[in-house]
Amino acid sequence: MSQNSNHEAVLRVRDILALSPGGQPLTARGWVRTKRDSKHLVFFEINDGSCLSNVQVVFDNPAPDVAAELARAQTGASVVVRGTLEESPARGQSVEIHGTGLTVVGQSPAELYPLQKKRHSFEYLREIAHLRPRTNTFGAIARVRNQLSFAIHRFFQERQFLYLHTPIITASDAEGAGEMFRVTTLSPDAPPRNEHGAVDFGKDFFGRPAYLTVSGQLNAEIYACALDRVYTFGPTFRAENSNTTRHLAEFWMIEPEVAFCDINCNMDLAEDFLKYLLLDLLQGCGEDMAFFDSRVQPGLLENLQLVVDRSFQRISYTEAVEALSSSGRSFEYPVSWGVDLQSEHEKFLTEEVYRGPVIVTDYPKEIKAFYMKLNDDGKTVRGMDVLVPRLGEIIGGSEREANLETLEQRITESGLNREDYWWYLDLRRFGSVPHSGFGLGFERLIQYATGMQNIRDVIPFPRAVRSADF
Ligand code: 4AD
Ligand code: MG
Repeated sequence: MSQNSNHEAVLRVRDILALSPGGQPLTARGWVRTKRDSKHLVFFEINDGSCLSNVQVVFDNPAPDVAAELARAQTGASVVVRGTLEESPARGQSVEIHGTGLTVVGQSPAELYPLQKKRHSFEYLREIAHLRPRTNTFGAIARVRNQLSFAIHRFFQERQFLYLHTPIITASDAEGAGEMFRVTTLSPDAPPRNEHGAVDFGKDFFGRPAYLTVSGQLNAEIYACALDRVYTFGPTFRAENSNTTRHLAEFWMIEPEVAFCDINCNMDLAEDFLKYLLLDLLQGCGEDMAFFDSRVQPGLLENLQLVVDRSFQRISYTEAVEALSSSGRSFEYPVSWGVDLQSEHEKFLTEEVYRGPVIVTDYPKEIKAFYMKLNDDGKTVRGMDVLVPRLGEIIGGSEREANLETLEQRITESGLNREDYWWYLDLRRFGSVPHSGFGLGFERLIQYATGMQNIRDVIPFPRAVRSADF
């Protein structure tokens, strides 16, 4: 509850809807979602983002000054409404406000307002990302993001992990995949050049090439190898040219890193983490989740509850390849030992073979990053990907290579320079320890939890190939 300048009690819609009606006076404010007139009655629905539901306001035979104000209160206008709380005869709501006064704070010309009462496509709403949070779906997404963000911190804080801030600008490629955005202050027209004619980044702001980070992992390893367990939760950037429904150029990632932890302990942490988050969401965002279940992904709630209740299947990459090749299914990308799993394979494993989340481990070293611990077979590494139905990979992680010589060799094999990773190698020189971690893509988690098809619709302002509006 807050006070406005006249010292009236202003309530948020969510709190109003939880009250028992008794004719009590109150003030609400928000944006008009719908309005309709019938004879001497005017009905309004007001939403203020505090919950999915609107509160209905009814004006019966309004006084002339109120009627004049009502005429200005079109869909989309911001309003302050005064009235009393009464039992509602309408279906689907227990209370309504009987309006006595109205102030239009900001008008919204009906013929120009881009959000009409009909259902708009998500593609259209992406073009008006400044107005889409005023729709049911995007309001719900915003509340789900908020709920999950908070639960992520709570999960780790309850387990004594330290929240670590890793840099956004970096000189090292944490994934060694070369998918980084360059950060520079050099002029694109006339950059300084060295004697070979190449751009001289020695003259750039940082005195060397610099990029936006693809992952906080290497920095998190530094802190895990001193403080035992840490996590990051921040934006990461990938210049992958993937125009898909699961890739963003800027996304948020959660990366725990734990010392004295092998791949099994890492898998346990990932499974506990996902279950904790989904359960918290089902309990904390019930109304929004019921909306996604009925309007976006039928069966969602039951499905997520099963994920919370059952153990995740754990299989090796080799077993995954066997299951795929013996399935008799013809895939767009044929499967054989050594190829990377594509999202069609991940979906097949989770949706048709195991019917639930699957953790795949021990991938061929050639298709995974240099830092993953090499197995005794010399061919596979202790990577682990958590795959889920509908989406495929949601988490990628591994036990890290803790042996200095092996790591040096893996860096060289991967075509990277040892000198660039000198400090990372030092961690294996001084007090090396088995340690593990993983990265959860926050937007992939929200996609999975809500059933939303396109990753661009679960982040307020998506950045993707050829798209950086708003
Ligand atoms: O599998 P990735 O590349 O792993 C890492 O970055 C490791 N350094 C993590 C670690 O071990 N600390 O990315 C991790 C997760 C993926 O499983 C996926 O959920 C998400 O990040 N992700 C993306 N999400 C949206 N758009 C993209 N372009 C993404 N790339 C990865
Ligand atoms: Mg991955």
